[in-house]
Amino acid sequence: MAFFKSATREVPDAPRIPRHIAIIMDGNGRWAKKRLLPRVAGHVKGVEAVREIVRACIEKGVEYLTLFAFSSENWRRPAEEVRLLMQLFVTALEQEVDKLGRNGVRLRIIGDLSRFEPRLQTLIQNAEAATAGNTRLNLTIAANYGGRWDILQAMNRLAEHHPERRGAWTEAELEAYLSTSFAPEPDLFIRTGGEERISNFLLWQLAYSELYFTDILWPEFDAEALSQAIQSYQRRERRFGRTSEQLADSASHA
Ligand code: IPE
Ligand code: IPE
Ligand code: MG
Repeated sequence: MAFFKSATREVPDAPRIPRHIAIIMDGNGRWAKKRLLPRVAGHVKGVEAVREIVRACIEKGVEYLTLFAFSSENWRRPAEEVRLLMQLFVTALEQEVDKLGRNGVRLRIIGDLSRFEPRLQTLIQNAEAATAGNTRLNLTIAANYGGRWDILQAMNRLAEHHPERRGAWTEAELEAYLSTSFAPEPDLFIRTGGEERISNFLLWQLAYSELYFTDILWPEFDAEALSQAIQSYQRRERRFGRTSEQLADSASHA
């Protein structure tokens, strides 16, 4: 969509408070293991961390928060863990949506939702509809999401809508069909849990995001840890292909 500047086609703004933060919430299993608890205990604790980070983002004026909750590759986990994760997802939707709504949060779920059981799909639709009028924070949960899936589904839908076209698609046309078309590109990407990889998260959208990796396990990631990530972001020089000298120059003319 043409509402937001694309980092590759224009030089976007570099806001002091990131407008959009995208997080890979990793380390739940290890958090539980350290305490000799079952992995699912880590996921339960992880939901509490989500609550705290949502609150902190509202306080800081972050407009978009996108959280990776379940990847298209996470189906490879033991069936019992997948079952418990789905159950937790259902419970979280049942219990949290009212409160999110009251706090001005608009909830969206992105990913290939067709693989979820019908009850969960209905809960998702209802949650999105119930919060659709909110504008304070756009909270997006990526579930059965994969960055490659996203690019492909966008390409397929685009081509379907233009049966006469043979090619020569533009970035802007494709972006309008990505599952994050309602949001600016992430300014800040955070991964907790110590791994330094993207794990098939927002492949297209992260093209110019500032990357931040921390060893903190997701259940222990709190408002203070978020502030530190934002401080690190604020120390970065976002050049978008230009030189430092050009940046200094444009600042002095601003
Ligand atoms: C992230 O924590 C949550 C999901 C992927 C659902 P993990 O479950 O991957 O935790 P670790 O990486 O095993 O510690
Ligand atoms: C990435 O975490 C996906 C989510 C946090 C939902 P994983 O723990 O599944 O990632 P890998 O497998 O270690 O790359
Ligand atoms: Mg992990």
